[in-house]
Amino acid sequence: MVNAQPPKNMLTVRDNRTGKVVDIPIQDNSIPATAFKVLKAPRAEGEREENETEKGLRIADKGFLNTAVIRSEITFIDGDAGVLRYRGFPIEQLATKSSHLETAYLLIYGSLPTASQYKVWQDEVLHHGVMHSDAEQFFKSFRYDAHPMAMLTSAFAYLGSYYSEANPSLQGQKLFTKGDPESLAVMDKQIYRLIGKATTLAAMAYRVRQGRNFVTPPTGLSYTGSFLYQMDHLGEENYKPHPVLEKALDVLFLLHADHELNASATTVLQTGSSLVDPYSAIAAGCASLYGPLHGGANEAVIRMLISIGKPENVPGFLEAVKRKDKVLSGFGHRVYKTSDPRSFIVRQIADEVFRVTGKDELLETAMALHHEAMKDDYFVKRKLAPNVDFWSGLIYRAMGFPLDFFPVLFAVPRVVGWLAHWRQMMLQEGGVKIWRPRQIYVGPGKRDYVAVDERVAEEGPRLTPSPVVHSG
Ligand SMILES: CC(C)(COP(=O)(O)OP(=O)(O)OC[C@H]1O[C@@H](n2cnc3c(N)ncnc32)[C@H](O)[C@@H]1OP(=O)(O)O)[C@@H](O)C(=O)NCCC(=O)NCCS
Repeated sequence: MVNAQPPKNMLTVRDNRTGKVVDIPIQDNSIPATAFKVLKAPRAEGEREENETEKGLRIADKGFLNTAVIRSEITFIDGDAGVLRYRGFPIEQLATKSSHLETAYLLIYGSLPTASQYKVWQDEVLHHGVMHSDAEQFFKSFRYDAHPMAMLTSAFAYLGSYYSEANPSLQGQKLFTKGDPESLAVMDKQIYRLIGKATTLAAMAYRVRQGRNFVTPPTGLSYTGSFLYQMDHLGEENYKPHPVLEKALDVLFLLHADHELNASATTVLQTGSSLVDPYSAIAAGCASLYGPLHGGANEAVIRMLISIGKPENVPGFLEAVKRKDKVLSGFGHRVYKTSDPRSFIVRQIADEVFRVTGKDELLETAMALHHEAMKDDYFVKRKLAPNVDFWSGLIYRAMGFPLDFFPVLFAVPRVVGWLAHWRQMMLQEGGVKIWRPRQIYVGPGKRDYVAVDERVAEEGPRLTPSPVVHSG
């Protein structure tokens, strides 16, 4: 029977199959999914044994729509209010007052660094930017038209092969989880290396595609200044990236540094939960980010704007969106139900960049699209507003980056967020638990092997391998 006066901070659940009642503690507005395992029931008449009913109730959550997988102190998002905070600091304050590397320290270690702490941090990160010269061969081994994300993803895994001292498979599985000074030192060194070399690897992926020789990371430039130098330096004396573009890229990096448990951060944690080395975990995150539902939207915005062509075509395009024939890329978000707070900052950066580069010819179309969509009932009713990708692609294009390099410009700064989440998990109270979700098995029940000449062919779409036409 359900208690007459249910205890506060408890969820009381009654299993109507058995009448069993359990009180489940609510902590931080969440309940442990394992609490439901005690709700066991005899298998109902005709029920499949694979349901494992007598072993306890499972929680189904396809796509992690309402499952919290970790306690985190890093990033907070209120999607209804359009709020994004890193370690408690509003993104707007960080974007105007901080830098990407300072914010990286904040995200990973939890506080804003003092001047001397920052100096050590910046020196270490930039010092670790140099790659072994063998890496040139690695990048040159890709096909001439290899996608830069294929190169970057592989490069992170490749990078790990240089550091056997950072590999728990070789050094012992507690390498990163002990939390003592020695273990923290090994962990932090990999953090310097991964953030320091992310720009170098990305720049190498860029240069190999352009047919340019590689350059050594320069000294005396900022993190993003060094990145721009490594991509664009063509032998000029005293070459320095344009300060407005360097600053713009730095703010864009800061805005992209973390966004709590998105698909790629979750992938890094899932992969890291097996205690694999951080290079493999970051490579996995990079692969996840590459997908068009995640890191590819800024590129999709540009392709969409090119297809619209000019402002006069906007109404026709919006009609097609409303008929569900098209999607308005750069609008809508799983979490934000109002404008993405980063989109306002990116819009301002766009103006600063265009003053240097000249206006992108697609800007007028983008502005008309934004204006029309924001007052259209279809978008208002569904709470669809611009996300960070709506304007960022225009900036990258104006700065001269090729379209397929856009996801790289997202992945490089996101290495910071991935590492912040990875480090937090390695050091979390109670140690690391391998992430092993459950499934609901709906396949065949137990059946016996059938000899080949007694089999009846099962045929139909998806049931047999697809035929391949060979060209000879
Ligand atoms: C981001 C995104 C995947 C979120 O999806 P989601 O949270 O699952 O939202 P839903 O797909 O449930 O959308 C709710 C409604 O809005 C519509 N909608 C959502 N985003 C839309 C968009 N960009 N253009 C047109 N319609 C959109 C859906 O068709 C749906 O309409 P319905 O209620 O008539 O079926 C989605 O908004 C999207 O595809 N946006 C464009 C891609 C993009 O910019 N991604 C970058 C995100 S940072």
